[in-house]
Amino acid sequence: MSALEKAFTSRPGKAIAAKAGLKEPPRLRRGRTWPEGAIVLAEIGGGLLAREALARLGRSVESPVVDDGQEPAPGYGSRIGALVVDATSLAHIDQLEELRAVLRPAVRGIARSGRIVILARPAHGDWEQRSVARALDGINRTVAKELRGGATSTLLRLDPAATADDLFSTLGFVLQGRSAFVDGQTWSVGHADNPATGLDDLPLDGKVVVVTGAARGIGAAIARTLARDGARIIAVDIPAAGQALAAVANEVGGSALQLDITAEDAGRRIAEHAARGGGGIYAVVHNAGITRDKMLVNTDAARWASVLDVNLAAQMRINEILLAPETDGGIVDGGRLVGIASTSGLAGNKGQTNYAASKAGVAGLVEAMAPDLVARGITVNAVAPGFIETEMTGKIPFVQREIFRRSNSLSQGGQPVDVAETIGYLIDPGSQAVSGQVIRVCGQNLVGA
Ligand SMILES: NC(=O)c1ccc[n+]([C@@H]2O[C@H](COP(=O)([O-])OP(=O)(O)OC[C@H]3O[C@@H](n4cnc5c(N)ncnc54)[C@H](O)[C@@H]3O)[C@@H](O)[C@H]2O)c1
Repeated sequence: MSALEKAFTSRPGKAIAAKAGLKEPPRLRRGRTWPEGAIVLAEIGGGLLAREALARLGRSVESPVVDDGQEPAPGYGSRIGALVVDATSLAHIDQLEELRAVLRPAVRGIARSGRIVILARPAHGDWEQRSVARALDGINRTVAKELRGGATSTLLRLDPAATADDLFSTLGFVLQGRSAFVDGQTWSVGHADNPATGLDDLPLDGKVVVVTGAARGIGAAIARTLARDGARIIAVDIPAAGQALAAVANEVGGSALQLDITAEDAGRRIAEHAARGGGGIYAVVHNAGITRDKMLVNTDAARWASVLDVNLAAQMRINEILLAPETDGGIVDGGRLVGIASTSGLAGNKGQTNYAASKAGVAGLVEAMAPDLVARGITVNAVAPGFIETEMTGKIPFVQREIFRRSNSLSQGGQPVDVAETIGYLIDPGSQAVSGQVIRVCGQNLVGA
């Protein structure tokens, strides 16, 4: 901790920060915890999917308070934990008023770390329907910015074929504390034959999961979180990080594989390691990543190549080997692939052309691969972290770091576990209907969210 950071985090320093308008950030609800307070369900136009999915999650629901134009506007007697709005039948501009009328009392009455969840259809149909679909996006993003106390807002787009079986895992993740740092986001839920029928505390029981870059930071948190969920972890990192890697592997009861993922034979070595354990791989989390920042005018071929190779090309080579049906120890049907993008990569960030190329490339890769792997029941998704408290971001000078970590709707940096929990949701067998998605774990970062 620098002298400046110490001064800033001391008691007098905090008082000065408060005077300067920098409030203590809210403490976020995390883990497999449900909202504190009632879950309110509003059904606009009579959709029944949310009701069924909430029943699958064992959650009882209450009716919404509706703003009927009386002043003062009606409110809730006590704080509510969440408002779930089934807006899957909403198609006309004047129906948006029904949404406003349930959102207004809920936004005022929501508990700390509460949740607003809007369920809608993908943009399709006539001009008005497509325009209304985008209007919902604007509403979600704005509500997320107005909510206080660590409460978040999420918009889920449900395929017309989606059922409660497809939805419950996603709805459970969003309502629980696992989604603490996912705010103002939109993603899609499709339809699939789902092997799971309800949330499970050990969804990955006995399943083999490879995590690259697992020796520290976000990778170590992924290994710990997925092991908590029952996975047998193969922790991969470079030989130079061997000691830290062994410590993580031991801690989670997994095995360590010292390997530079850019090696030509990396895929084969991972498969051999898995096969020695007696089976195939259920999931691969391509977490290993590097930055070699320079303005483009100073970026030479070597700096360019190293970042693209570690962050993108290596995982493509590894995927190719592990997905080949003849590979002993490869990825099993019904398996999972997860890549790590980055909000600064997706939005573009000065001094990071190589990194942005690789991370936006990861988003493109999962979108491209997902439809091709549907027939094998393999899902492919990515998470895009914003500012996460790790050694990597710990190296940013204090004042700049303080600005970055507060530049989101939750006024704080995310924890590595927030990224890990989102990955846990994506690889949960219950998330079979979620593929080709990029979910930002960024607290609704002002950049790239
Ligand atoms: N920390 C953040 O705020 C943030 C934000 C957005 C995205 N990310 C991404 O999340 C991932 C993890 O980030 P982190 O902050 O934990 O980084 P980190 O630097 O702390 O850890 C990365 C790990 O990857 C390993 N690694 C690097 N090159 C490797 C290679 N060739 N083969 C095998 N292992 C290799 C490193 O040894 C290290 O243990 C990265 O992909 C990063 O780009 C991080």
